[in-house]
Amino acid sequence: MEKKWHNRIRKDILGIDLKVPLVDGAQRPYINLDNAATTPPLLPVVQTVQAFLPWYSSVHRGFGYKSQLSTEVYHEARRQIMTFFGAPGQEYIALFVKNTSEGLNKLAARLPAVGNGEVISTWMEHHSNDLPWRLRKEAEFIELTGEGCLDLADLESKLKKGRRRYKLVTVCGASNVTGIINPLQTIAELAHHYGAQIAVDAAQLAPHYPIRLRTAGAEPIDYISLSGHKIYAPFGTGVLFGPVETFRAGTPDQVGGGGVIAVSREEVVFAPLPDREEVGTPNLIGALALATALRWLAKNGFERIAAYERKLTKYAYDGLKTVPGLILYGPPPERYPRIGVISFNLEGIPHGLVAAYLAFEAGIGVRHGCFCARPYVHHLLGLTKDQILSYENLAKAGRKCLLPGMVRVSFGFYNTEAEIDLLVAALKNLREEEGKIKNRYQIDPATGEYLPKIGDFKGALLRHTKTFFHL
Ligand SMILES: Cc1ncc(COP(=O)(O)O)c(C=O)c1O
Repeated sequence: MEKKWHNRIRKDILGIDLKVPLVDGAQRPYINLDNAATTPPLLPVVQTVQAFLPWYSSVHRGFGYKSQLSTEVYHEARRQIMTFFGAPGQEYIALFVKNTSEGLNKLAARLPAVGNGEVISTWMEHHSNDLPWRLRKEAEFIELTGEGCLDLADLESKLKKGRRRYKLVTVCGASNVTGIINPLQTIAELAHHYGAQIAVDAAQLAPHYPIRLRTAGAEPIDYISLSGHKIYAPFGTGVLFGPVETFRAGTPDQVGGGGVIAVSREEVVFAPLPDREEVGTPNLIGALALATALRWLAKNGFERIAAYERKLTKYAYDGLKTVPGLILYGPPPERYPRIGVISFNLEGIPHGLVAAYLAFEAGIGVRHGCFCARPYVHHLLGLTKDQILSYENLAKAGRKCLLPGMVRVSFGFYNTEAEIDLLVAALKNLREEEGKIKNRYQIDPATGEYLPKIGDFKGALLRHTKTFFHL
């Protein structure tokens, strides 16, 4: 029953049976374990976009039929997205942005009442939920426990000592390094108790776990930022949700056409929400795609999908533990809730080489490095300040080959236990034939990439690229 259901929904991924070339010239079905970076598109998303494209026209700009239809589609997409994330229209607004990073930057720019030193972020964050606050608001950061969870006692102590100084606590819903799901309800209660709002970077959480701004009986969330391309809708749209009050007045972070209702030589009158915050021609296709992906998740049982991914994560974690010398980061899934993101290292084998071997010899796509969350990765690796400094100097000198990092696998609903088995088998093979395999690769010191010594992989890649440009 479960298998039948899974086989059916898996078929809704575009390119699910795609084969990729290996270094020996063979073709292998691609195993995509890099869903935390971006997910493949859902077929129904692509079909809906294709069906709509003949009708595509300008939003809010023309009065022809197509233009009016496009405007209606854009409004309906926003309505559906707000409903999915439990954002009542009287209190919240959903603003279309490019991605999570743009949403968080917009928020940092649109909180003039929040001054320097009045924001708390955490050392677990992706750079996109760290740097906007660090550089614009001189944020403080919550400490981590030894195994990489948020130290909630530190949060409470900061809030308490701050005597209502802090106006915002901003935290990821789930980590893009360890997959840890943060206790958002507790954090929201703490923040509100001490007079602060809570912003959630939901880039990782939203695609895998239901999250709502408002739910009966639960502490509300004030802001959420997320990316469509991580929720099977890769058409360049993200969303920033927040209270209407935050965006109703003041000067938007970007200004220009579409954001105003009157402009004279003397005066500028901004449009009502959401237009005042969405300057320029909006990404209608992206909005339609995201709404379609969310409808697909709801129709196919988001809770059931989340439960499947939980089981798969545990299966993968247990499988990885059987690889000799494999170091896992963060608390195990049986002890701490996690989405399907697992980072590890293989003792004695550089993370870049592990990723290269998986790509070139097993057809498995993973990511390696620091995943745009350097302070968190440094903490998990237990690096000293001096070590971090010397790595920074190497990076500045353009010598990426020696930088620390990890290998990350991350799952979507369509991944299977059979794929995990192949991953674990490939890692065991790498371990067993470590010496021989290391010999098959050379590193480019500038990029830090490991490439096979034989074959012309880069050449083949370029030839493939050209086919999309009819060259
Ligand atoms: C936790 C987290 N926050 C923010 C981002 C940034 O997302 P985007 O690149 O879509 O802006 C990512 C991307 O991986 C992420 O994992």
